Amino acid sequence: MENFEGSGWWRSRMGHRIAGWGRRAGGRWGVMRKRHSKPNLRLVVFVVLLVLLVISGIVYRRDALRFAGREMDYHAQLPGRLTGEGELFRCDRSQFRTDICNMRGDIRIYNRSIVLYSKDPTTAPGVQIVKPYTRKWEQSCMDTVHEVTLRSVPTANGAVNPKPPACDVKHKVPGVVFSNGGYTGNLYHEFHDGLIPLFITSQHLHREVVFIISEFHDWWLTKYIEVVQQLSKYEIVDLINDTRVHCFPEIEAGLHIHDELAIDPDRMPHHETIQDFRAILNRGYTPNKELPSAPPLGVSKSPSLTIIVRNGTRRFLNLDGIVKTAEQLGFNVNLLIPDPTMELKHIFRLLNSSDVLLGVHGAAMTHFLFMRPGTVFIQVVPLGTDWAARTYYGEPSIKLGLHYLPLTISPQESSLSEKYNLSDPILRNPDEVLERRGWWSMKEIFLEGQDVQPSLERVRTTLNQALEKLRGSKVRHPIPR
Ligand SMILES: *[C@@H]1O[C@H](CO)[C@@H](O)[C@H](O)[C@H]1NC(C)=O
Ligand SMILES: *[C@@H]1O[C@H](CO)[C@@H](O)[C@H](O)[C@H]1NC(C)=O
Ligand SMILES: *[C@@H]1O[C@H](CO)[C@@H](O)[C@H](O)[C@H]1NC(C)=O
Ligand SMILES: *[C@@H]1O[C@H](CO)[C@@H](O)[C@H](O)[C@H]1NC(C)=O
Ligand SMILES: *[C@@H]1O[C@H](CO)[C@@H](O)[C@H](O)[C@H]1NC(C)=O
Repeated sequence: MENFEGSGWWRSRMGHRIAGWGRRAGGRWGVMRKRHSKPNLRLVVFVVLLVLLVISGIVYRRDALRFAGREMDYHAQLPGRLTGEGELFRCDRSQFRTDICNMRGDIRIYNRSIVLYSKDPTTAPGVQIVKPYTRKWEQSCMDTVHEVTLRSVPTANGAVNPKPPACDVKHKVPGVVFSNGGYTGNLYHEFHDGLIPLFITSQHLHREVVFIISEFHDWWLTKYIEVVQQLSKYEIVDLINDTRVHCFPEIEAGLHIHDELAIDPDRMPHHETIQDFRAILNRGYTPNKELPSAPPLGVSKSPSLTIIVRNGTRRFLNLDGIVKTAEQLGFNVNLLIPDPTMELKHIFRLLNSSDVLLGVHGAAMTHFLFMRPGTVFIQVVPLGTDWAARTYYGEPSIKLGLHYLPLTISPQESSLSEKYNLSDPILRNPDEVLERRGWWSMKEIFLEGQDVQPSLERVRTTLNQALEKLRGSKVRHPIPR
């Protein structure tokens, strides 16, 4: 089989080459391996890449068509929509980000493994092992994810030995197996590698699906219960700790995934988008109608700005000035200091009623997903973080329908200008620093060692642009009273 996500793979490799940027990794950053040590080899590789880029542009249309053809097959593989009738046991290992195994038939889950008691002699007997987490391409992460074993046992010619265990729980709907391991614990990954893939994989089942979680964490369910309940109406099965025998007609192990914090409508059964994902968050976080209703949203003339405040690294050194500037422009300003004990529904409701979100690049920018389409997202981009800021948050926010305004920090506005001479490559050319010093010093210098002090004049200009955008998109400004 050819590489299914060929073009995605290409884009992502190009991104790494051009910007020299690794992947965000649970508060850590993936190690960039030095690919080419000799400068002349580097030049050759660069020229080759340039030629390939031109060629890829030329063949793009043809590829897109071929790609579309494959998507059709792909749709058929969503749980509950598998092609054909009868038994099935197959794994798709052709994708770049994820492996997916599908089973249909008499399936029993017990003793931490998934067993198909096969009556069809054409079903291949055997064992498949899969890690149900969407970072297949990142070895260091996958090394920490537990394996899930799927086995097919023939029963066609008489009894199997040992006999299939009796079902303690008999499910009538498909089961979807995924992991709470990997980088779960980091907000970006909880959405990018968790909830969004879960939505892509299961939303078409209209809650008629059972989630089976390996490396299950109670805190994860507590944190995301409102979202999980929008996707499944059944109790979660803890693959490792549950001692009952669960029987299923169909199982998918592994989740489907598209792009950074995004959903590709062309790969969805009814062209669902990231806005549909946001809609389930909104449904999940809408207060129960039977309960006393939340204070009504008053329609006010003043637009509201929420500033996400980091208190460790990449802090604003002039937060007071920024707040005053915003207030002078007529903004009603809220400060949001993300804290693990804060319930997501409160953050959702705050951002759902904000017109502008402002924050410094980092995992907390994932909260842009809580903003309403038509509102504005201002991401402050510290030195050395251009590519990551744009790829992980900027471009995805545009897909959600937000107006994205990056505020790129100049050397003078970075605290690094106090530590280094303005002629130092650290201030002049962060990409070169990565090339020369490697990933870990890049991380130490730019991600962990930098605070920002954007000039208030530029903050004012950017906030004025935000007001322009808001006028253009005619969004209302509901302010909680
Ligand atoms: C459970 O699985 C382990 C290893 O996967 C195996 O050694 C053991 O015999 C199994 N127990 C039962 C009751 O099937
Ligand atoms: C699963 O079992 C282990 C060991 O018995 C225990 O430490 C862990 O807390 C359990 N996990 C959950 C989510 O119940
Ligand atoms: C989010 O805002 C919209 C529009 O103002 C409102 O209809 C919806 O109820 C809000 N959602 C929540 C969860 O508060
Ligand atoms: C950040 O805030 C938390 C609680 O709000 C506090 O415990 C922690 O010490 C703060 N960290 C820094 C570096 O100020
Ligand atoms: C910065 O570097 C330049 C050129 O190397 C030098 O002339 C200047 O004195 C340095 N400034 C500081 C503050 O070290």
